[in-house]
Amino acid sequence: MQALTSYPHMLHGCDYNPEQWLNRPDILAQDIEQMKQANINCVSVGIFSWSSLEPREGDYQLDWLANIINKLYANGIYTVLATPSGAKPSWMAKKYPEIRRVSAERVRDLQGGRHNHCYTSPVYREKVRQINTKLAERFADHPAVILWHVSNEIQGECHCDLCQAAFREWLKKRYGSLDELNLAWWTTFWSHTYSDWDEIESPSPIGEPCIHGLTLDWKRFCTAQTRSFFENEIAPLKAANPDIPVTANFMGFYDGINYWELAKSLDVISWDSYPNWHTQPDGDETYNAFWADAFSDMCRSMLGKPFLLMENTPSQTNWMEVCRPKTWGFLRLTSIANLAHGADSIQYFQWRQSRGCAEKFHGAVMTHANRTDTRVFREVSGVGAMLKKLDGLCGAKTTANIAILYDLESHWAVNDAKGPRNGSIGDNDLMLRMYLPFWKAGYAVDFVNSEMDFSGCHLLLVPMLYMLRADVAKRIRDYVKQGGTVLLTLHTGLVDEHDLCYMGDTPAEGLAELAGIRFLETDPLYENQHETMRIVKAPFPLAESYKLERLCERVAAEGAEVLAVYEHDNPCMPDDLPCLTRSSFGRGTAYYLGAFAEDRFFSDFLISLAERLGIQPAIDTTFPHGVVAAARTGADGTKYYFVMNWTREQKSVNLPHPLKDFETGKVYQNKLPLGPYGAKILI
Ligand code: GLA
Ligand code: ZN
Repeated sequence: MQALTSYPHMLHGCDYNPEQWLNRPDILAQDIEQMKQANINCVSVGIFSWSSLEPREGDYQLDWLANIINKLYANGIYTVLATPSGAKPSWMAKKYPEIRRVSAERVRDLQGGRHNHCYTSPVYREKVRQINTKLAERFADHPAVILWHVSNEIQGECHCDLCQAAFREWLKKRYGSLDELNLAWWTTFWSHTYSDWDEIESPSPIGEPCIHGLTLDWKRFCTAQTRSFFENEIAPLKAANPDIPVTANFMGFYDGINYWELAKSLDVISWDSYPNWHTQPDGDETYNAFWADAFSDMCRSMLGKPFLLMENTPSQTNWMEVCRPKTWGFLRLTSIANLAHGADSIQYFQWRQSRGCAEKFHGAVMTHANRTDTRVFREVSGVGAMLKKLDGLCGAKTTANIAILYDLESHWAVNDAKGPRNGSIGDNDLMLRMYLPFWKAGYAVDFVNSEMDFSGCHLLLVPMLYMLRADVAKRIRDYVKQGGTVLLTLHTGLVDEHDLCYMGDTPAEGLAELAGIRFLETDPLYENQHETMRIVKAPFPLAESYKLERLCERVAAEGAEVLAVYEHDNPCMPDDLPCLTRSSFGRGTAYYLGAFAEDRFFSDFLISLAERLGIQPAIDTTFPHGVVAAARTGADGTKYYFVMNWTREQKSVNLPHPLKDFETGKVYQNKLPLGPYGAKILI
């Protein structure tokens, strides 16, 4: 696999805002020397620089940027060049009020903050096109520029009149007629039938909050509009030089827009990782670490290749409730974990702390003290020194035989529904519970959405696919028919793509038949309530029982073998209500899990199932608590193993085969020692 950019090395970089220091040439000169000392080989510049690039309308000032890019390049530092659209300049916001966003309550913003422009406004689109054209004309052929960083953390929605009009046009194309739309949205409910397109308004707390089809289509529209805005941004960049890849930095499990759709317009996926570290009194970071790696795996899965870690803090993140710095030695650990899950870069927010405004106390490589003899600086340089030796990891691939089906539209829909558990249906939680045991045991996992091909995986997990499209159901059935193994779960296959409930047996579209069960009713639980799953026929060694919470779904077995039943304390309830079933379908097998089981169940069940299916972890051993592993294979066939200790205790791993420490050359025959928060890359 190829490197992500024309610079075939692991990137070690940071957000760099020289425009804040243009009156301090001494600082700018120091920056370059200090960056070299920190082993920085690329910087992201131009993020939020619009008022310096175009201080007055049409007055483009790009020389300062050219000077910076040239000087950096002369010193071996490459540029990730950002477009400035993430923050609009004040002159523009004043002259063109239409570019300021309108909230769902229909209130137009004043100027301020960032990430708050209208995606529809023709004026803003034109202004963005113009500035991006200037940037592209000047820099697209500059050998220093290796990547376009488009805008910043693209997010949010606008409810202005322009957006409303665009939404109606989008709906007209989608439905053709109002009759079709009324039918799809079930608008006769509470007499909400539309008789004119102009009656349709985006969802609002002061207006229409209860037509689920409307809410869903509004979210789809916002994603489409954001993507078309993005396409407008990149058109001049691509016109100037189609070979420079484009990226947009994602924000973890942010669900305001559908990243999977936006990914279709990206050459490279990147994300900004800010877990809330050091929350536990015992220093055990295992449960903080895994969701970040899950999102990294998602990024890697979206385009089926490595991604860039665009931002992480070298020390503190100043917007958290308590802003604990990454503790001594921790940056190396988080960096190696990111590499392990597919990152081809470690980049920081930020190079230098600003003197004023909202992020002056955010962590940075250079603090206000302006010294390089700090422990953070040393740790950053250490990561850079390590990356310098890792050219072979560039573009290295991850092979996963397990896939988790994660459909963001289904996530939107299930969280918008009223009932059975309002505000805490927990679909993402269920997904992460399925991911966790594999992460702990070192199995690679891919994420797929409803559009993606999963036919090649050996084990498919389907956490709460509430909204089920007919074509996905068919592909799941075909996959199993041809020998695949699937785990279907509660609250799956209840509504179609309009969020209209399926009539007849569910899970719909033949999934009930596939699983050999039929949905009867849902019993949601309060936080302090639990039920128990009692195993009656263990397909492989399992505990006798497991705790259940949140949602217990009662199903009837119609052909499936019952593997576990609900244990309860209501004498009126039958004792043989299935909770876990197994069914053969074609050459494959379908399991159905009816309830939110505790982590221990997923760990026992899924790991045994993976073993049964012959799926191999990165390192075939039993890891002590808090120690995890992953692997990637380089273009020359070298296999890189990553082992991370998320605890502050000394640990030791039994190795099934000797491995060599990639940095020191030391060979570990059968025991690998790991210090507190230690991490190793082995080959
Ligand atoms: C986000 C933004 C950055 C910065 C950091 C601070 O990721 O992209 O501009 O504000 O947060 O953590
Ligand atoms: Zn708008």
